[in-house]
Amino acid sequence: MAVDLLLGLQWGDEGKGKIVDVLTKNYDIIARFQGGPNAGHTLEFDGIKHVLHTIPSGIFHKGAINIVGNGVVIDPVIFQKELDNLHKFNLDIKSILLISRKAHLILPTHRLLDAASEAAKGKAKIGSTLKGIGPTYMDKTGRNGMRVGDLEFSDWKEKYRNLADKHEAMIGFYDVDIQYDLQELEADFFKAVEKLKELTFIDSEEYLFKAQKEGKKILAEGAQGSLLDIDFGTYPFVTSSNTTAAGACTGLGVAPNQIGEVKGIFKAYTTRVGSGPFPTELFDADGEIMGRVGNEFGATTGRARRCGWLDLVALKYAVQINGVTELMMMKGDVLSGFKKLKVCTAYNYKGETITHFPYNIEPESVTPIYTEMDGWAEDLTKMSTASQLPAALNTYIDFLEKELEVPIKIVSVGPDRKQTIYR
Ligand code: GDP
Ligand code: IMO
Ligand code: MG
Repeated sequence: MAVDLLLGLQWGDEGKGKIVDVLTKNYDIIARFQGGPNAGHTLEFDGIKHVLHTIPSGIFHKGAINIVGNGVVIDPVIFQKELDNLHKFNLDIKSILLISRKAHLILPTHRLLDAASEAAKGKAKIGSTLKGIGPTYMDKTGRNGMRVGDLEFSDWKEKYRNLADKHEAMIGFYDVDIQYDLQELEADFFKAVEKLKELTFIDSEEYLFKAQKEGKKILAEGAQGSLLDIDFGTYPFVTSSNTTAAGACTGLGVAPNQIGEVKGIFKAYTTRVGSGPFPTELFDADGEIMGRVGNEFGATTGRARRCGWLDLVALKYAVQINGVTELMMMKGDVLSGFKKLKVCTAYNYKGETITHFPYNIEPESVTPIYTEMDGWAEDLTKMSTASQLPAALNTYIDFLEKELEVPIKIVSVGPDRKQTIYR
């Protein structure tokens, strides 16, 4: 039985949480494979809005098992807060939420190092969520990290102390003024670790292998988006993990030949939060409308998201790298009322027209070339079938399908579970 993937194709916040929640009814297991609490995945149903950071977005479905895979980095303090927020739903967390022993832990000092690194970069800062993601993955690849499985051994506090002391010395190397009370941070951390230890730890690669053999249906949930991928994103303005399809193999221990559908999700326009190049970014009233109507504020940091037209050069690149087999277009409702819509179909790259995603997309090298299309005036948010969609939206969708050569199977017309149209 194959493992399906669901991945963000832009700079994150495409609506992965909503769609995973919608699709969970078709799956037995939902498994997060990378990233950590830098993610903010929003779900809405029955008038409730809920934001998840580390916990997979299948958690609200009866019968679904949710796995935090080895590729994820876990901050016990944030994880505990997430669990506290779930308290009112009366979920049997110990049996429906399973955590890989091989997942790495975010220490309080990882967060401090993130802050020090960003402060030292000044204007060149990444715009990190400051959740300690970069430093934790650095310790993972540097072979110094602490893993969830370490907590099952009596010497874990010693390991912790050695690593935290090293981090403190490293913070001292940065020529910045970071104020912190480590004792207080550690007290919170130790308390949260004790709570984490009450949960179920598993060898998730073995669990998933057996589940596949038993014919269980598995959906791997990505975090961030392809343009934030450590290898293929707009480096260095990226996150520190592989957000693309291959990341699901290494982040869960699933073999490449077991991957089935690759579901790629994108907004009908583009947003980005944090620093880095963004060719189709708008600084005018159109961008302001997208931000306001789309309520484009980060689910994790509350920062305003930068907004712009859909960039098909970037989207095609993401489709290609991930081997996307079906697409989902989100937030079409936000574009209602625009008389004309623009879609970037090529870049002017140093005077030459190109349609591939180049090494450098900084504004001095790249200017977007747009195709203009008619907009639609209709409010989409109450629509529930494809036959209700306005003609101009269908033309927009047909154009994208032709350019991307992949079918758009879902059109989302609002944040709620129910505002989902199948094609
Ligand atoms: P994720 O990180 O990919 O899960 O996305 P986020 O939750 O960070 O951001 C997506 C935002 O858009 C959330 O506030 C969702 O509730 C909202 N959303 C999702 N789909 C739609 C849609 O089709 N229309 C509108 N208007 N909002 C949507
Ligand atoms: P979801 O899963 C949008 C961005 C940050 C910053 C860069 C590096 O909700 O789509 P990091 O904290 O990883 O060091 O930040 O990546 N970023 C996201 N942007 N959605 C996310 O996750 C993001 N996770 C990280 O804003 O630019
Ligand atoms: Mg998000």
